[in-house]
Amino acid sequence: MPAIVLIGAQWGDEGKGKATDLLGPRVDYVVKFNGGNNAGHTVVVGDEKYALHLLPSGILAPNVIPVISNGVVVDIEVLFDELDALIERGVDVSRLIVSANAHVITQYHRTLDRVTERFLGKRQIGTTGRGIGPAYADKINRVGIRIQDLFDENILRQKVEGALHQKNHMLVKVYNRRAILVDEIVDDLLSYSERLKPMVADTALVLSQALDAGKTVLFEGGQATMLDVDHGTYPFVTSSNATSGGAATGSGVAPNRIDRVIAVVKAYTTRVGAGPFPTELFDASGDFLRDNGFEFGTTTGRPRRCGWYDAPIARYTARINGVTDFVLTKLDVLTGLETIPVCVAYDVDGERHDEVPVSQSDFHHAIPIYEEFPGWDEDITGVREFDDLPKNARDYVLAVEAMSGSRISAIGVGADREAIVVRHDLLD
Ligand code: IMP
Repeated sequence: MPAIVLIGAQWGDEGKGKATDLLGPRVDYVVKFNGGNNAGHTVVVGDEKYALHLLPSGILAPNVIPVISNGVVVDIEVLFDELDALIERGVDVSRLIVSANAHVITQYHRTLDRVTERFLGKRQIGTTGRGIGPAYADKINRVGIRIQDLFDENILRQKVEGALHQKNHMLVKVYNRRAILVDEIVDDLLSYSERLKPMVADTALVLSQALDAGKTVLFEGGQATMLDVDHGTYPFVTSSNATSGGAATGSGVAPNRIDRVIAVVKAYTTRVGAGPFPTELFDASGDFLRDNGFEFGTTTGRPRRCGWYDAPIARYTARINGVTDFVLTKLDVLTGLETIPVCVAYDVDGERHDEVPVSQSDFHHAIPIYEEFPGWDEDITGVREFDDLPKNARDYVLAVEAMSGSRISAIGVGADREAIVVRHDLLD
């Protein structure tokens, strides 16, 4: 029984829910291994729609154990708010386990996220403002607060003092803000500890034992490959590893236990926040994709930047993550276009690049080289077999597959959960 990693192939919001649904009945554990409440996914169960930012999607499946592992940064207030909203709607959330080693997002991380963004001026990253970057910065600087620290008041106070010492100088002298009181933070964090305690576990051990016992574990990556702090479009990235390697470091499950890596890729490309995006459209085609694909952020409501499919990015994703299967989503959004351009390579100052350039400034200057594919007008939302798709839609998928470095095993053809065409079993 396998360990499966599910990740985003582009800049996020690829629609991972489609892949989760396909795997659904076979999964015993769903692990969130990176990021925090900067993510956003809408899960539809029956007639009910749930918007989750922090909790793994598995929280809604009665037979699944949802896990928040060590690689996550946890805003406990948000965690409890999301749990309460689900409890109110009758969802049993008692199976959730949270790693003792996960780091905590506090009020000062949220404050710093906002003030540092403002000070960056034109160089803003466009973060979600949830304190993600500052919390990871503290983790790397070794002044972070971990979930386990909430159960020892002395240790907690020492750590908060250590974390605030330098920050208060910055807040007061550089950012002209008031200093944050140690007591305020300690009291706030301690107020969560009683409710949190029963959820806390050695999740690395639990997951390894689950795999030993033949269970199926799904590692659900937040954000996506091009937002990965090491392999994305740095510095316009999130502060964690959203690639498949992050599933190992972010959970404590060894990399050689991972059997499948599924990447979800949109039939076109979107991005929120700042940073390079070679195939971005500023014309009516961009509006067409945004309107037809409902491309507005789940977490911040921001309109997403939209552009054509970028095959070098898909190939890059296949290579960096060891992708075994792609799930191509939102193919139906392209219905009605006369021709569909696909970026096959880039022109950088007159030189052709078939792969994503390693240099940030080359990628900033990359001009897409497009190949055009004929479109289709037929409504494909009811199609469930690949052979029933219009010929031009099939040809588009096959062409994109040939350029993307791994097989396309499933295709999303509509917003409904069942609106999916399966070509290969994701676990086979
Ligand atoms: P942060 O993760 O809030 O620090 O934001 C860093 C960058 O990642 C910004 O461009 C965000 O818009 C982007 N980002 C973070 N989470 C998501 C997500 O779930 N989907 C898409 N973009 C995201």
